[in-house]
Amino acid sequence: MFKKITNLLTAISFFAVTTLFGFSASAQQTPIVIKLSHVVAENTPKGLASLKFKELAEKKLPGKVQVQVFPNSQLFGDAKELEALLLNDVQIINPSLSKFDRYTKKIQVFDLPFLFKDSKAANAFQNSAEGKALLKSMEDKGLIGLEYWANGMRHFSTNKDFRVPADIKGLKFRIQASDVYESLMKAFGANGQKMAFAEVYQALQTGVVDGQENTFSNMYSQKFHEVQKTIVETNHGILDYMVVVNAKWWNGLPADVRKGLAEAMKEATIYNNKISQEKNDEAKKAIMDSGKAKVVKLTDAQLAEWKKAVAPVYAQFEKDIGADLIKAAQKYSQPAQPKAEKPATKK
Ligand code: SIN
Repeated sequence: MFKKITNLLTAISFFAVTTLFGFSASAQQTPIVIKLSHVVAENTPKGLASLKFKELAEKKLPGKVQVQVFPNSQLFGDAKELEALLLNDVQIINPSLSKFDRYTKKIQVFDLPFLFKDSKAANAFQNSAEGKALLKSMEDKGLIGLEYWANGMRHFSTNKDFRVPADIKGLKFRIQASDVYESLMKAFGANGQKMAFAEVYQALQTGVVDGQENTFSNMYSQKFHEVQKTIVETNHGILDYMVVVNAKWWNGLPADVRKGLAEAMKEATIYNNKISQEKNDEAKKAIMDSGKAKVVKLTDAQLAEWKKAVAPVYAQFEKDIGADLIKAAQKYSQPAQPKAEKPATKK
């Protein structure tokens, strides 16, 4: 009898030990692989913050997650990355806010020209109740926004000398996949051509387009300044990102993993927003030092011409975005920005 009990206890302990160690060993051997894909270079705010997220996530969740970061459109370019996320071929992406308008019209608020006077104003709006609600505005489409990441202010560049909208009349500009930007180029008398980020350098070099608009960090890291003559500091909009995940994948993660990833993402966001201005300032200086493209500051009168030209864009998009949302965003950039003007009615 005693021997039987001893055997039974031995068997139970053997089972418990192998189950326990077997389970933890297999958990260690099979971390959840998380692919994070983006389209910019590593030495940019987004590139560096993506690597910071990997470091933090793997430190917080040792053996439980492995984050693989793919920069420079290596895994998916921006024409495909949102579809790939919905198919769970990639788990985290962080596209420019201009690239979501197929999923929600409200997010177009971020593309309205001269709406935010600087990155700080955009950040304050992103942290407001209205800004946070936009992170959740695509859940019915299967996308959850975790955080906003800043890059910086956008400026125009072309292969000719220019100062005011009249100087770019008839020129072709590469734009992101944004209807607001298409309308903006029209308002300036130019043409916008939607194009993936990875194709821009070649399009500028070969003259497929005459110009583009972007942050200093993106221009420098992609060498756009080597194939453009003039960069004018128009500060016409922000280029910020939304870090998004596939809702089904995210909600299906073990609770402790989801919590650790959310914390790592919050910390990576703080890091991103701390370095973004600095990276853009460095890039601007490097462009100026290179002596390739000329960087031009506008006079107040010249800037006023750009601002005056954008009224039709507000008129066109106010209904889709919502006047209240525009007002909520404008609040952080007092004095008031351009007001929507009703287009003249034809008689
Ligand atoms: C990016 O910063 O992610 C790319 C922006 C662009 O397409 O111009």
